[in-house]
Amino acid sequence: MARPEGSGLAVGDEVDVEVTAFAHGGHGVARHEGQVLFVRHAVPGERVTARVTEIGSGARFVRADAVVVHVASPDRVKPPCPWAGPGACGGCDLQHVSLGGQRALKAGVVREQMARLAGLEVDVEVEPVPGDAGGLDWRTRVEFAVDAEGRAGLRRFRSHEVVPVDHCRIAAPGVDSLRVTERSWTGPDAVDAVAPSVGEPVAVEVPGGAVPDVVERVAATWSSADGPVSFEHDFAVSARGFWQVHPGAAATFLAAALEPLDVRPGERALDLYCGVGLFAAALSERVGPTGQVVAVEADRAAVERAERDLAAAGNVALVAARVDDAFGLPREERGRGRGRGRTRRPARSPLVPPRADVVVLDPPRTGAGAAVVRAVAAMRPRAVAYVACDPAALARDTATLLAQGYRLKSLRAFDAFPMTHHVECVAHFVPDA
Ligand SMILES: C[S@@+](CC[C@H](N)C(=O)[O-])C[C@H]1O[C@@H](n2cnc3c(N)ncnc32)[C@H](O)[C@@H]1O
Repeated sequence: MARPEGSGLAVGDEVDVEVTAFAHGGHGVARHEGQVLFVRHAVPGERVTARVTEIGSGARFVRADAVVVHVASPDRVKPPCPWAGPGACGGCDLQHVSLGGQRALKAGVVREQMARLAGLEVDVEVEPVPGDAGGLDWRTRVEFAVDAEGRAGLRRFRSHEVVPVDHCRIAAPGVDSLRVTERSWTGPDAVDAVAPSVGEPVAVEVPGGAVPDVVERVAATWSSADGPVSFEHDFAVSARGFWQVHPGAAATFLAAALEPLDVRPGERALDLYCGVGLFAAALSERVGPTGQVVAVEADRAAVERAERDLAAAGNVALVAARVDDAFGLPREERGRGRGRGRTRRPARSPLVPPRADVVVLDPPRTGAGAAVVRAVAAMRPRAVAYVACDPAALARDTATLLAQGYRLKSLRAFDAFPMTHHVECVAHFVPDA
């Protein structure tokens, strides 16, 4: 194969390298003759033979797999899943690392992102989330891909190819009970397997299959200035709508977000990116009949369910909109049609009140973004809880909050996605003065 200009390495080349660091995204970092290699299936401190799998854009970096380990890290273990490894399933990145080692690597990523993007030195440990079996048997939602022969499996890393994984080791027992990979499928491109906390597991064919609602029960406790708080609630969620995939995650994040806020009766609370209203339901109980919760979510199906569920509370206003639209922010959009560049959609009237006492944000991976974070800070809340599934996005939004006169009061990180590089953070901010 012709070598891309400026690249010393080509796909298929094998080189011996020292793995010196761990990158956000789950790869070991190595160097070879001035080029950076992102090496999957490697651990920092190891010496490996890396086989190049892809040349990155502009040949500035290459992707590779560790195919031989010459000097192993003390954290290396035999992967519990036989489908994890070079060229195999793309689902897990860290099956070859002990659970303690995985958590240490993820803590390092959180620290590095906060230092690099927010200029903060943070001390953070990645805490376990109750409900898995040593990092296995936890994933309550799995999207299986279906190949042209009707076999369901999981996708190869950075590929559409379907690997015929017979049994996903991180899937919850309820997902396994559906035996998706043992059946032959005609028609769907994918099958969503969902094991809710209440009721039977369901398999939804995508596209075209009927999408039922499932029930997710959350029971959480945390402490407040007035003593322990208990919260228990059943949520109706579309089987294809958003819900945390680790069985202990929703209760853990709820307690971690609400405990430091110590929400008082009569306060106004904002729940941004509210989904079916996990935080809104608990905030509604805390602010009571004299308080108010305003919850914003772009997915109308989720808002409908939250509206039905929380109508009786009488103190929750749901806003079905993007958060930037709800704040009346101008939105940058790509113009439609040929030759159109980026356009700026004018600001609209805000759909949220100008002031809030406390704000919970739980945005998607991209984060809330600077404009939304500035709008949150402009409400001058006495406390902000930020639930983040991407530490880089959290660090960028932290930088914005710091510039708006807030400081990071606490930061916790949770192992809600064991065996993968993903980590969830819950950060708590208060005004600087
Ligand atoms: C990480 S989920 C959190 C949901 C909820 N807080 C929970 O814990 O179940 C992020 C949510 O943000 C919604 N979302 C994504 N982009 C949005 C936007 N720009 N404005 C409002 N909601 C958005 C998604 O539909 C999803 O429900």
